[in-house]
Amino acid sequence: MKQVISCQLNGKATELLVDTRQSLLEALRGHGLTGTKEGCCVGECGACTVLIDDVPINACIALAVRAEGTSIRTIEGEAVNGQLSAVQEAYVDAGAVQCGFCTPGLVMKTTAFVEDLNRDDSIDRDSLTREDIRREHAGNLCRCTGYQTIVDAAVNAVNAVKS
Ligand code: FES
Ligand code: FES
Repeated sequence: MKQVISCQLNGKATELLVDTRQSLLEALRGHGLTGTKEGCCVGECGACTVLIDDVPINACIALAVRAEGTSIRTIEGEAVNGQLSAVQEAYVDAGAVQCGFCTPGLVMKTTAFVEDLNRDDSIDRDSLTREDIRREHAGNLCRCTGYQTIVDAAVNAVNAVKS
């Protein structure tokens, strides 16, 4: 059965015609937003991470109809007027991108994390360790980098938020 859902998609009011059995990942990619990657499709790799109402989710295991009335952010919305976001810059600067398949999901995960830090004064950012930041990204797998540069990027993004 088909259904039209209304949402904010990367800041723009959007209507998507979706199948009620379709995942959000399928709906987004079918809408041309192929920056969000399809990896495992069972919620284990994080390649499909998008933000719904600023919370990271695995779009492969979320029904598209769940997005009715929400604000969805994908990697396509992060650079503005050709200017990379601070988190994207941190990934480039750290050399954290190899094949790039995991990168959109990781960038969205880091983005949600640094925005949470910005919003929530109760989190003592100075006490965050590299291990804490690594743990925040535990649901996102990378087959290329060995993770060190990804954690470097995330640490730099968190520190950029501090300053
Ligand atoms: S493709 Fe969604 S978690 Fe792997
Ligand atoms: S850079 Fe290739 S999977 Fe992460």
